[in-house]
This record gives sequence, structure tokens and C-alpha cells, in this order.
Amino acid sequence: MTQKSFPLTAEFIAAANTTAEQYANNYQQSIASSKASDNFWAERAEWIDWFKKPTKISDVSYDLDDFRIKWFEDGELNISVNCLDRHLRNNPYKPAIIWEGDHPSQHKIVSFKELHAEVCRLGNAMRKLGIKKGDRVTLYMPMIPEAMVAMLACARIGAVHSVVFGGFSADSLGNRIIDSQSKLVITADEGLRGNKHTPLKVNVDRALDMDGTQSVDKVIVVHRTGNSIPMSGRRDVWYHTLIGGESEHCEPEVMNAEDPLFLLYTSGSTGKPKGVLHTTGGYITYALSTFRDVFDIKDDDVYWCTADVGWITGHTYSTYGPLANGTTTVMFEGVPEYPTWARVGHIIDKHKISVLYTAPTAIRSMMKEGDTFVRESDRSSLRLLGTVGEPINPEAWDWYYHVVGGGRCPIVDTWWQTETGGILLAPIPGTVALKPGAAMNPLYGIKPEVVDSDGEVLEGPAEGNLAISNSWPGQMRTIYNDHQRFLQTYFTEYPGYYFTGDGAHRDEDGHYWITGRVDDVLNVSGHRLGTAEVESAVDAHPATVEAAVVGMPHDIRGVGIAAFIILRSGEVANEYLKSEINRHVRNEIGPIANLNAIYIVDALPKTRSGKIMRRILRNLAAGQYVGLGDLSTLADSSVINQIIEVVKVEREQNRNQC
Ligand code: WTA
Repeated sequence: MTQKSFPLTAEFIAAANTTAEQYANNYQQSIASSKASDNFWAERAEWIDWFKKPTKISDVSYDLDDFRIKWFEDGELNISVNCLDRHLRNNPYKPAIIWEGDHPSQHKIVSFKELHAEVCRLGNAMRKLGIKKGDRVTLYMPMIPEAMVAMLACARIGAVHSVVFGGFSADSLGNRIIDSQSKLVITADEGLRGNKHTPLKVNVDRALDMDGTQSVDKVIVVHRTGNSIPMSGRRDVWYHTLIGGESEHCEPEVMNAEDPLFLLYTSGSTGKPKGVLHTTGGYITYALSTFRDVFDIKDDDVYWCTADVGWITGHTYSTYGPLANGTTTVMFEGVPEYPTWARVGHIIDKHKISVLYTAPTAIRSMMKEGDTFVRESDRSSLRLLGTVGEPINPEAWDWYYHVVGGGRCPIVDTWWQTETGGILLAPIPGTVALKPGAAMNPLYGIKPEVVDSDGEVLEGPAEGNLAISNSWPGQMRTIYNDHQRFLQTYFTEYPGYYFTGDGAHRDEDGHYWITGRVDDVLNVSGHRLGTAEVESAVDAHPATVEAAVVGMPHDIRGVGIAAFIILRSGEVANEYLKSEINRHVRNEIGPIANLNAIYIVDALPKTRSGKIMRRILRNLAAGQYVGLGDLSTLADSSVINQIIEVVKVEREQNRNQC
């Protein structure tokens, strides 16, 4: 593993909020004992405006017989007040959101005062529709300011938002509505990305035709593109007519620190996506505090996180973290290649962006187009770069550092998960020389451990699975409707620890490198998909009998999807059928579930007890046909040769086509 490290520039260190010594001291103090940890978080909670300050800090036990995770449990607050009202005192006209539209001719600046007014109007309107504290509201939105308005308006009135990524299909949306039993859906007529329209409202209509979605009374529709869409008179209402007459004052709901704030569905290694539940006081304390530390935030920063609001990064580090800090957050509706691959650089220059936070997959796709596009911009406003979502390969890191950042901006490689609510591992900038590909150090209050497959905690340099031995305020509290699955997934494998599902290496300096998922979760372009989910979508196609899905190396996406499929007898394996199956999967889940390779096989490698041996399929999908390891547990080892033949032929064909 490369150990090349990049020292920070003297200018950066001189201006940084945190010194190496401060990090070391604060970190040690924050984990010295549970009392010390409580003291640390009590101090951080001072950064929040509480209606009632908490007197109890943490009450946590990972013991399955007596399990609980509570933070600031007697505190009372409202998150929208923290993100909006309190900034009106000193900075009412500071831009809260800078919105850059799909087309470069469109942008909009929304001040904290304007955002506050709009959130209040929508909050009032939702209350009139009968939405109360604790009710679930599903958001299916494009990247427009109204998406953040809707999240904050839910927080204002105590409703629990469940944002569903606008790239998910009607089916995926419907399933999430059924699980959350939402009363209200907020959407737009259409989404617009790269000058392509996405039929959001039509998808909502389809989703609401599904059995089990009768909980939804109303659909609020934001007018985005203006193309004609069907509106159902009783159920559907336009956003602008609804909020037009509403007051700019909306009494914030008093929330207990442990009241739910949002649900966000994410894929696991088994079954259907799970509703990760985050609560109020701990989440916002963690979002605010980690945002300030990791991005070295100053008052005049213009911060751009490219994540869609449909993912956790769009929640914590586009919306809540920046706004709670009073930081200007940039929201981009479009895609990096429209109108040309120079767009990202142009946006940086246009809005004088100082901190850029994006994903390795985006960096790789820009890198592939060459340097000329990026060099159309000067990017001198940038001072810090960040990355998230998957391990960053050294080539992409180098390019991000030297070309995008001009060799002056540190890169914070941030490791975290939907479940963790906020970043757990990252090099706080100014405190440590960077190693490309390493997430480096634990943040304050986090105790990571590397454990082996028997659950032994390893000391010193080590390779194994990543677990966390304590709790932090931003941690998820449960899986909505399935607390048992929550305990089973995260706290059973290694009793007494939170198990992350990731592998990690700790080097001789004590720095952490994430090596990728160790379970059946695929990380495609930094987005999570469960193999089980993709398999059941393939299985649902009438021509298939059974499928096994594994990850495969992919230049841009990091991980691509390979499907090994057995067809029903009488079906003929041809290119048409394969693209038909792919279309079907994309329709069921969404375009992110694109199958990069489809292998039609006679049988799957199974153990005698009928379990698919994915390890073998992963090797074959990566083009490794020898050294497949122990095959003795296979029920019938002859299936391997047939699969190898299929894979070889396909890969050869693809190579010829490229
Ligand atoms: C992966 C995204 C390596 C990891 C915030 C994790 C990373 C999963 C990094 C969570 C990183 C995230 N380096 N891998 N810096 N950040 N991951 O829930 O496998 O969408 O478990 O949250 O992404 O994905 P999720």
C-alpha cells in the first residue's frame, strides 16, 4: 500500500482552525472515559440553540439485553431554528443557498431571510393539510431549493421526512412510501438534468397506484419545467398556489432531542432497503460540529457539496451541517458534463467556491475527459477539497489534488455511512500530512477498532473489519419498523461494537484505510445497492429462473454490476433479451442499477447446502479464472468451467467492441 504523503502548505496550516496539537489533545480528551466524552459533547452541544438545554448527555448500551442509544435526552430544540432563525439576528441577507440550474444561464441566490420565510410558508401550509409532529412526509425532488425548503419545513413542524432519490423508479418510490406510511408526498412536475427531463410527477402517480400507499392524502407539486402533467383534483396541489397566501411566521414545534428527524432508505446486504432513522438533538450537534471541523469552516466560505439531497451526504453536508453553521451552501441541479465537461470548473469560478466536496466517481469521470476542460477555469477561489462515498484510487487523488486543486488544496477523504449520520474518519485539515487513499484519523469522540473474523480486536498495524466501540451523537437509532433487524445487522456480529460492514487497514502510523465492503452491498458510483435487491429485480423478469449478482471492477463507477443468470427453458440467450433484462432492472430500481455485464449460464456455483458461492463469481467477473481457492464445498464443480467459457467469450466480445 502506498505510503507517499503530502505535507500541507505553510499558508494552509497558518490559517487552519485546528492545529496538530489541538487535534491530538482534543481527541485524547474526547475518548479518555465516558465522563470525558460526555464533557466533550456537552461543550459541543453549546453550539446549538436549545429551547431547553440538556442536562443528560449520553445514555448508551450496546448490550443486546439492555440496548439503548440516547443523546441529550432531556434537551428540547428545533433544527430549523438552528439552521435559519438564529442566523437572522446577524446575517439575514447572507446567501444560504446558491442554486445553479441545469443550464448555465440559470442561477438563484436565496438568503437566510428568504429561506426562513419560505420554510415558514410551507410549514404553515403543511399544518393546514393536517400534517402533525411525527407524521412521515416523502420527498421526491430534483435538486432545486424547494427540496431543502421541504426538508426544513418538515423539521419546523416536527414531521419526519423521507427523501427518495429522484433517480429511483416509481416502484422503489412506492415501496418506500409503503414502508414509511407517509401522509404527504412533495415532488416536482419534472426533474431536469443535462437537458433531459425526468418524469417525477408521473412516477409519483404510478407509485401511488401501488397497493399499500393509501396513507398518502396529498401530493404537493413544485412547478419546475412547466411541461404538462396530470393533476388529480382532489389529491394534487401546486406548491406555489398552496404557499402563496401563507404567513412568513411559523411557530417551530418543540422537539425532544430524541424525536425522529428523518428516515432515509438505504440498501443492506439482505432484503429490501431499510429506513435508517435519525433523531434531532444528536444528529444536528454531530452535523454542525463535524462540518465545522472537517471542512475547516470560515464565515466567508462558499461551500459546494455535489451530492444529491436523496443521499445522506445531501442531508448532512449539503443541508443541515452548512445551514446550522450559517455557511453558504451551493446546490447544483445538473450534471458535470452539461453543456461540456468544463461545467464544474465554471461553477467554481462563477460562485467563487472555496470548499468542494465530491465523490471519486465524479472525479474519475472528469479525469477521463482530460485536463483541458478543467483548465478552462482558474479555480483560484478553492482552498479545500473533500471526497466521500468510496475509496479513492491514487490516480484520481493525484489528479484532484494537482489539476483541480492546483496543488495547494488539501483533500479530506471522509469515511462515513448513512447509518453514522456524519463523518467518523477524516484528516482534519491542518493537522496531518495526507496519504492518498487513506481516511486517516478518527474524529473527536470516535473509537474505531480493526477486528478479525473471530471478533478479536487487533492492535497496531492490522487488516480486518472496521467496528466502532462507542457511540456518537449522530448515530442512527433504529431501522424504521424493524428494530430487530437493526440489532441483528449492526450489533450482533461483534457483541459490544457497532459493525460497519467495511474492511479496513491500519498502518504503522495508526492511520486508517478503508478497503471496501465486506458484505453483499455494492458501492456503485458511491451509491449503495444490495445484491439481493438487484437479484430479485432480475428474478422478476419472466425469462429468468435465478440470478446471482456480484460487483466487478469498473473504471469510472468503482464497482460495476455483473449478473449471472439462468434462463427459463425455451428462452434464447441473445443480446436483445439481455438488454431487455437490463431495462427491466433499471425500471424496477432505477438507472443506477445498470447491469454492466450479463452472463447467461446453465447453473450457479452452489454449496451443498444451496448457498451461492459469490466469492467465485466475483473472481470470474473480474477476469480471474485461476486460483479460485477452495472449491471442495461446491455441490458440482463442473459448473465452473461452463461459467468460465461464457465469461471469456463475453469479455472478448466487449473488448472487440471497444
Ligand atoms: C463507503 C455515504 C472508502 C463505505 C456517506 C461505506 C467509503 C459506504 C468512504 C456508505 C471513503 C464512504 N472511503 N469508502 N471515504 N465513504 N464509503 O451509506 O463502504 O451511502 O460503508 O454513505 O460507502 O455509503 P452510504
